[in-house]
Amino acid sequence: MLELSRDAMERLGRTVMEQLISHRTGIRDKAAGRVLSRKEADSLLAEPLPLDGTDPEALVGRLEREVFSNISHVDHPRFFAFVPGPGNFVATMGAALAAGHNVFAGTWLGGSGAARLEQTVIDWLKEAVGYPWGGGGLFVSGGSMANLTALGAARHAKLGSHDARGIVYFSDQTHSAVERALRVLGMPESHMRRIPADPSFGLDVDHLAGLVRSDREAGLTPFCVVANAGTTNTGAVDPLNAIAELCETEGLWFHVDGAYGAAAVFGRRATEKLQGLSRADSIALDPHKWLFQPFECGCLLVRDSVALRSAYAIHPEYMVDTRLEDEEINYCEYGVQLSRSFRALSLWLTLKTFGAGAMGEAIDHAFEMADHAEAVLSGMPGWAVVTRPSMAILTFRFVDGPEESLDTWNAAMVRQLRESGVAMVSSTLLDGAYVIRLCPTNPRTTREDIEVTLDALAQSARDAGYCL
Ligand SMILES: Cc1ncc(COP(=O)(O)O)c(C=O)c1O
Repeated sequence: MLELSRDAMERLGRTVMEQLISHRTGIRDKAAGRVLSRKEADSLLAEPLPLDGTDPEALVGRLEREVFSNISHVDHPRFFAFVPGPGNFVATMGAALAAGHNVFAGTWLGGSGAARLEQTVIDWLKEAVGYPWGGGGLFVSGGSMANLTALGAARHAKLGSHDARGIVYFSDQTHSAVERALRVLGMPESHMRRIPADPSFGLDVDHLAGLVRSDREAGLTPFCVVANAGTTNTGAVDPLNAIAELCETEGLWFHVDGAYGAAAVFGRRATEKLQGLSRADSIALDPHKWLFQPFECGCLLVRDSVALRSAYAIHPEYMVDTRLEDEEINYCEYGVQLSRSFRALSLWLTLKTFGAGAMGEAIDHAFEMADHAEAVLSGMPGWAVVTRPSMAILTFRFVDGPEESLDTWNAAMVRQLRESGVAMVSSTLLDGAYVIRLCPTNPRTTREDIEVTLDALAQSARDAGYCL
């Protein structure tokens, strides 16, 4: 039951592999993305529970036509929207191996080899961010879970049995994942200090220090500052050293959301900006973003892994068999998940296959692409760069028209570009104004891809009669 013959397994495996390899090698010729209407999606994919079976090879073909052709290809060389997921084929194979062996990475008993390998990869990441010996961390589903896990540990370490007066500080450019994490942890809105960012979209440390002081005077308990190493909006990096200084003086937990940007420690272009990162108590870093892993490969690093264990370890009687000796690592004791997949494997395979140097070059390529986009834009009449490239994120907009029409015009161009399939960019609001946002983290992106994309936007401005 529920089995295939060896022959059928081989045929299915070949069909899947052929599809994946064709996707990888042919992606440049595909549309960057395609979005179905709800009606189209229903008519293709809504169906009753299948009572009888179907040939799985035919199903894989159907999936390619009906599902995989109707997604945003976040790994497309002209996908510049949000935070792309460029991936890499070796990591795909790593994920397949982890799933194929169905590794249980929650306990040492369940996967001692996997747990040790996870620790090895965590050690590599710790070394890359400059953490001292003795820290730790774990793989999680992504930035949202890394931030949640860190903030849970911060609260436990600094507020003990949940002091109801705890206050947490972050800039208004911080990803919503942080606020959601605080909500999940039961923190009332009134205990979150969302500090207006400075003109370069970084955290204003003087403002922060003033708030910490006045909160203490009001009898509240400041306990944590969340800084950004690469905001989602503009790639801004908060002044990490100055924040570390304040946190050390005030005894606050210093968490850095580097879900997007912290990976740049592997390259050379962000060394200065990321100074101070290693002083954080905890760092969220997503390999599924800028370390080219498949989705649901996130990571949390901590200076002191005891903080994680004391926040999360519980020893129920039905898990007594998992307690072998003192030295084993039971990753379920360091975070929220018990059953967890072997996410570290794909990053291990990638780093071992290509080396950390190649990883750094792939990351630095994004900085070059963002710089090139800025240079191209500076020669495009009617267009203005709004924020210069920071951690390879650039924002810009079409400005040649009546102020009251610009937001609508820019939004129309973003939509047209998406519908054309040529490329995908996304948008955000900066100081209330609509800007177009380009995040070129795919190492397969070329200068020509950047030019084609910007040219398509300029062409849609011309087609709409916004400019000559
Ligand atoms: C800075 C930052 N933090 C957190 C997140 C949330 O990460 P995830 O989507 O992996 O949960 C993102 C996602 O883009 C991000 O850019």
